[in-house]
Amino acid sequence: MLQSQYKKIKEKFESNQHLWQEKYYRNDYESLTFQWRQDDCVSLCQKHLHANSRILDLGCGCGHASLTLAQLGYNVVGIDFCESMVKQAQRNAEIKNLQKNCTFKQADFVKDKLTLGSYDGIIALGFIEYFDDPITVLRNIHSLLSVQGIAVIQIWNRNTISDRVFSPLYANYQKLFNPIQIVKRMAKFILPKPVVEKFRKPVSLSADKYVYINVTHHRYTPSEFDIIAKKSGFKIIDVRVSHFLPYPFFFSDNRRIRWDKKLQTMAADNEFIKAQAYNYVAVLRKEL
Ligand SMILES: C[S@@+](CC[C@H](N)C(=O)[O-])C[C@H]1O[C@@H](n2cnc3c(N)ncnc32)[C@H](O)[C@@H]1O
Repeated sequence: MLQSQYKKIKEKFESNQHLWQEKYYRNDYESLTFQWRQDDCVSLCQKHLHANSRILDLGCGCGHASLTLAQLGYNVVGIDFCESMVKQAQRNAEIKNLQKNCTFKQADFVKDKLTLGSYDGIIALGFIEYFDDPITVLRNIHSLLSVQGIAVIQIWNRNTISDRVFSPLYANYQKLFNPIQIVKRMAKFILPKPVVEKFRKPVSLSADKYVYINVTHHRYTPSEFDIIAKKSGFKIIDVRVSHFLPYPFFFSDNRRIRWDKKLQTMAADNEFIKAQAYNYVAVLRKEL
C-alpha cells in the first residue's frame, strides 16, 4: 500500500489547514524553516526550468509555493487531497490575482495520478514523507514528467548531527535535570488526573486551535535518497539544504536564525555540513 495511514493523514491536514496558512507569515525559527525550504525549491526551479514551464505542486497545502512560482511567470497546478487546503489556496490565488496562471484542485495523488496531465516540473514539499514506498511515488512522478522534466523534492534528513547528538542530549536533559520537567513529573503523581489534564497544552504554533493527530513521517538520509532516486529512474543533479539547529535549549530564536543562515551558506561547498541539515531539497532529472 502506498499510503497506509491515508485516513489519519487526511484528517490531520483537513483540521490543521490554518497552521499551513500561518507558517508562511510568521518569523519564528520553526516557521522560517518551512519558508527556507520553499525558497530553496523556488530558486532551484528558476535555475533549472525555463520561464513559462508547466509545474505541478503535489500536496500544495495552502498553495504558497505554487503562488510564488506563478508570480515568477510559471504556469502552475497545485493539487491536494484536503478540501480545506485547496479552498484556502484558491482564496490566496484570488487575493494575489493569480487565478490565470495558478489553479488549485482537490485531487488525490494515489487515486487520481493518471488524470493529472504532463508537466515540465513537479515540486513536492513535505509530501513524500507521508508515503510508505518512496520509489513508487517517484516512479509515478517520473511518469507525469515530460522528457526533459525535473522534479524538485524535499525530504527530512534522518541522520543529522542533531539526531545523533543534540536530540538525545536534550531528551535526557529534559528527563533528568530540567527543574520544570521534574516538578511537572512530580505533579503528575501528586495531583488528580482531571487537574493534570487541565494544564496539559498541545505543542504547536497555535496551541489553542491545534488538533493533535500523530502520523508517521518517513525520513531518509541523503545517500538513501540518492539510491531511491536512481531506482526510480532519476539522477540527483542539484541540492539545497537548510534547518540545522535542534531544540532551543541553548539558543535564542534570533541566534538560531543567524547561525542557520551561516550554516546554509557554508553548506554550499561543504558536504559534511550539507549532510547535517534536516531540510534537503533535491533536483531530480529523468535518466531513463
Ligand atoms: C506537510 S503538508 C505540506 C504542504 C505544502 N507543500 C507546504 O510545504 O506548505 C503535506 C500536504 O500533502 C497533502 N497530501 C498528503 N497525501 C496526499 C495525497 N495522497 N494526495 C494529495 N495530497 C496529499 C496533505 O493534505 C498536505 O496538505
